[in-house]
Amino acid sequence: MNRRPIILDCDPGHDDAIAILMAGNHPDIELLGITVESGNQTLMKTGKNALHLAAYLDLDVPVCLGASEPIIKEVEACPAIHGESGLDGFTYLPIEKQFDSRSAVSYLIETILSAPQKVTVVTTGPMTNLALAMKVEPRIKDNIEEVVLMGGSIGRGNVTPAAEFNILCDPEAAYIVFNSGCVVKMFGLDVTRQVLVLPSVIERMAKVENKASKLFVDLMTVFNQNQKHVFGFAGGPLHDPVTIAYLIDPTVVKLQHVSCEIDISRGTSYGRTNCDLFNYQKKPKNAYVATEIDVAKYWDIVESCIQRYSL
Ligand code: BDR
Ligand code: CA
Repeated sequence: MNRRPIILDCDPGHDDAIAILMAGNHPDIELLGITVESGNQTLMKTGKNALHLAAYLDLDVPVCLGASEPIIKEVEACPAIHGESGLDGFTYLPIEKQFDSRSAVSYLIETILSAPQKVTVVTTGPMTNLALAMKVEPRIKDNIEEVVLMGGSIGRGNVTPAAEFNILCDPEAAYIVFNSGCVVKMFGLDVTRQVLVLPSVIERMAKVENKASKLFVDLMTVFNQNQKHVFGFAGGPLHDPVTIAYLIDPTVVKLQHVSCEIDISRGTSYGRTNCDLFNYQKKPKNAYVATEIDVAKYWDIVESCIQRYSL
């Protein structure tokens, strides 16, 4: 089987880090590059984190810096969950790896346009880089296999009652991507809040005893403490890797094809992903949204990815 070429656009971030880990050495996935924007922390912090994660995991892929702020809205960050560094719990050692000289937007355009096979773009942060790339070079849409994103929610939000963090960081960018005509697959809080890193999950991954399991344990220990403090959760929801788990085994979730409108009204529901599950409005269906997840299968996939790393 051909490996699926992907670009991972992210804002690491504890759960982004595990998505990078999983995409980085799976036999079915060809990770072409990592593009970064501000989100969980400032661009310089999320960029530094992506670079260090790629170095730690020995991933020989370009890491490109992208947008330092959303298209229209003021910039947000999430230090309460991800800490001042954006990746608290990680041990930063000296590295030689440097950022790619291209901006994330140039990299997305160049790579997608020249790819012999359609490219899947996975976003686990705000959608600013991808939206900008689509506006600068609309032809990339023809060579995108699908956009697979962590973000949004059919139900409740996690920053406001209505909105999820990634979408609320840059609702206008999400609006552009959801209305791009590309195949869009949304993995929102409805499923990601079911995959909690309970202490038993940390114990299970710790038993693998390699550098990937060490990363998992170091990061998830801090992530869990912060999630407990902010939301009262017994384990942090491992949001972002649901995208990669889906690419590895699509049966891990159930998807429904719906009309999904991004609220850019700047009212109390700004940033909400309005998913018309019952097709009340008879509008064109522009997104596949995840409605169910097989939790046991998810942790099996995560563990198998961790096991693939050497000591
Ligand atoms: C999303 O917000 C970020 O804090 C996480 O990395 C994830 O991408 C969850 O709402
Ligand atoms: Ca993220």
